[in-house]
Amino acid sequence: MTKQKINIQPPKGKLAILTPGMGAVATTLYAGVIAVNKGISKPIGSHTQMGKMRLGKRTENRYTLVKDVVPLANLKDVVFGGWDIFPENAYEAASHAKVLDQNLLEQIKPELSQIKPMKAVFDKNFIKRIDGSNVKTGKNKMELAEAVRQDIRDFLKNNHCDRAVMVWCGSTEVYTPATAVHQSVKSFEEGLRNNDPAISPSQIYTYAAIKERVPYANGSPNVSVEMPCMNELAQEMKTPISGSDFKTGQTLLKTVLAPGLRNRQIGVAGWYSTNILGNRDGEVLDDPGSFKAKEVTKSGVLEDIFSKEHYPELYSNISHVVRINYYPPRGDNKEGWDNIDIFGWLGYPMQIKVNFLCRDSILAAPLVLDLALYSDLASRAGMKGIQEWLSFYYKAPVAKQGLKSEHDLSVQLLKLENTLRFFTNEEIINHLGLTYYGVDEGEE
Ligand SMILES: NC(=O)c1ccc[n+]([C@@H]2O[C@H](COP(=O)([O-])OP(=O)(O)OC[C@H]3O[C@@H](n4cnc5c(N)ncnc54)[C@H](O)[C@@H]3O)[C@@H](O)[C@H]2O)c1
Repeated sequence: MTKQKINIQPPKGKLAILTPGMGAVATTLYAGVIAVNKGISKPIGSHTQMGKMRLGKRTENRYTLVKDVVPLANLKDVVFGGWDIFPENAYEAASHAKVLDQNLLEQIKPELSQIKPMKAVFDKNFIKRIDGSNVKTGKNKMELAEAVRQDIRDFLKNNHCDRAVMVWCGSTEVYTPATAVHQSVKSFEEGLRNNDPAISPSQIYTYAAIKERVPYANGSPNVSVEMPCMNELAQEMKTPISGSDFKTGQTLLKTVLAPGLRNRQIGVAGWYSTNILGNRDGEVLDDPGSFKAKEVTKSGVLEDIFSKEHYPELYSNISHVVRINYYPPRGDNKEGWDNIDIFGWLGYPMQIKVNFLCRDSILAAPLVLDLALYSDLASRAGMKGIQEWLSFYYKAPVAKQGLKSEHDLSVQLLKLENTLRFFTNEEIINHLGLTYYGVDEGEE
């Protein structure tokens, strides 16, 4: 394999992890990292903290913790900040979200209480079910973007941070596909000055982050990083961006199961997925406009894995239905059911049932941490624009225009780990494995 030497700046000083949105997911992340740093808990579910990867040949027995070989920011050097439409500090917001035991929250109350939300950029047209008072005002959207940029600079200065990353942990906005205003940086900036109604708050944060050369990761289905203007700006500002929508519960399992069925050439007639969820995210998603955004990111997964084009006899007529019902008694503890109608040899039908009783924010928090640390790594490695190697974390991974996204979880992991090997000048692993049997693989 030909290897390009990558020069990665060391992770010196403090890293600010900034989250637009300080709700269930964000506060579960803050609390988790504080608890880990105090030795109270373990960062389970985080590839950056607990993941191991093989380096070199299988015969070398080098199976190493990722964080021991990749120059990632240390958790002790992380500082959290965020924006929210509600003025509650992170301790109050975490207590309200009821994801973590109050007993744990009491042990980290001083640290959590210090994290206070900056005033949010908010627009009721994009999120219908909630409203709050901690909101910025400005004469146009450009002024709001400038205010977010100023917040970032002030945060870095006041908290003695060297670098920042931004991960969107805010609510899901009403689905609004790209319009003419999103086609170039020039048209987007004009739109900001003219208060174009098609520009959403999350796009304003994305723009502000990139302008400040702060890597941006989109944890929701909001349409932002895939827009041509954002990629153009990210290239220009040499800033990594990635998205969209954390891949946590039902979709995570879909991207494990579906490739398995396809790899065995098992046919699929239908996949019915339903969920009940009772947290604030569920309340926001109860609005049809916000649900539409989620439906888009949740639905694309199967279309891609079960390609009609490549397997017309197996996947031409899949009926894929996705439902999310807001059901307050369950809070953050989502329950998902999947019924999968499959068919095998000679067309004989079979069924699979999956019942996943998960905890939404417990699954999402480590993803936010990994995305923040890997986006910071990408920035220090001189990467810019869309970071497809972070697809592992997303329901709707954004790839370069014209390039098909990869949804298969194991392929996504291979891509992620090979990128880490590439960054650290280690051998790229292609699993051919013929050299062990004396065949020349033609490597340099
Ligand atoms: N938990 C999961 O498993 C999971 C998986 C995939 C995606 N997500 C997405 O992550 C996001 C966060 O989820 P959550 O459970 O923490 O939701 P949440 O409702 O608890 O928190 C979202 C917070 O964002 C705030 N907010 C809304 N608009 C804002 C704005 N313009 N600026 C700043 N703050 C704003 C809200 O006030 C709220 O406090 C949602 O978009 C959700 O769809 C979550």
